[in-house]
Amino acid sequence: MRLPVFPWDRLEPYKKTAAEHPDGIVDLSVGTPVDPVPDVIREALARASDSPGYPTVWGTTELRDAIVGWSERRLGARGLAHTHVLPVVGSKELVAWLPIQLGIGAGDKVAYPQPAYPTYEVGARLAGAEPVAYDSPREVDPDGLRLLWLNSPSNPTGRVLPKEELKATVAWAREHGVLVFSDECYLELGWEAEPVSVLHPDVCGGSHEGIVAVHSLSKRSNLAGYRAAFLVGDEAILAELLRVRKHGGMMVPAPVQAATVAALGDDAHVAEQRERYAARRSALRAALEANGFRIEHSEASLYLWATRDEPCWETVEELSRRGVLVAPGDFYGSVGERHVRVAFTATDERVGEAVRRLTA
Ligand SMILES: Cc1ncc(COP(=O)(O)O)c(C=O)c1O
Repeated sequence: MRLPVFPWDRLEPYKKTAAEHPDGIVDLSVGTPVDPVPDVIREALARASDSPGYPTVWGTTELRDAIVGWSERRLGARGLAHTHVLPVVGSKELVAWLPIQLGIGAGDKVAYPQPAYPTYEVGARLAGAEPVAYDSPREVDPDGLRLLWLNSPSNPTGRVLPKEELKATVAWAREHGVLVFSDECYLELGWEAEPVSVLHPDVCGGSHEGIVAVHSLSKRSNLAGYRAAFLVGDEAILAELLRVRKHGGMMVPAPVQAATVAALGDDAHVAEQRERYAARRSALRAALEANGFRIEHSEASLYLWATRDEPCWETVEELSRRGVLVAPGDFYGSVGERHVRVAFTATDERVGEAVRRLTA
């Protein structure tokens, strides 16, 4: 079989155990937002609900303006035009189908960090390319390497790559003619570090050549249900993707495009959401540490990367008996086999309950 077993199926028995807790399950295994969609976004969606015609793959002029404006303001990117942006239907479909859409296939290699979000490997496999997991990107053999994924802040570890590291990797990739896609969907969720985009002039030298940043509104705006994401970067690559995606009908629904414009124009809801996550994060962190866990990296993102120096499935099992479900680190590659990933995307009430159970 080309694709691995869908890992979440393996967690089902532990979910069942956790659900038997008299006060209910606290599910910290997935990073799905639980707080309301901000009103400013819902209102924009509602106003655009009378959308009988087909949307375009490239999106409305307003959407492209909003993406350019946000990228310059928030990422520090310079010199962007509409040709440097492309909306996508949430970033997961992009990650999974990008190698195919770029014509990458047998004999080519796609590299990604380890541990990592599993869809980078899935994308390589769907295209019939060779997946290569790396510890350090510049140690990958560039021969046959067509696509290099970066992910900072990282899922699952929450690690942030320093500016100098990003800069050296972009220079290395350019020298070897390797295309860089940088998945930056947690960029606005830095806690003890300030994440930097590959499009920042200090990293890319003011040129977008050979680099594309991937951004999503799922996490920063509680919009996972809307499927709103976009690409920013090399215009030749984006022109090719636009052409392919037009043939494939990969359109963001018109009301979601309008909602995205509203979301990118408003920083207040992002700040408000960050406050909620910051409080949940410190409560869970303290409870885990009180329970003998060590937290590694985790300076950004929506996760705590925790270990008790035991096999991850033992941790999953023990916590499930306390009604708390976490994700085993080996979902993200074998290097994660002694860690668990604890998401803080649960309500204040459920996080409070987890803290109570962990410190009881
Ligand atoms: C690193 C990373 N990339 C991409 C995604 C996909 O996000 P979405 O499809 O909601 O944009 C996720 C979701 O958890 C993620 O963790």
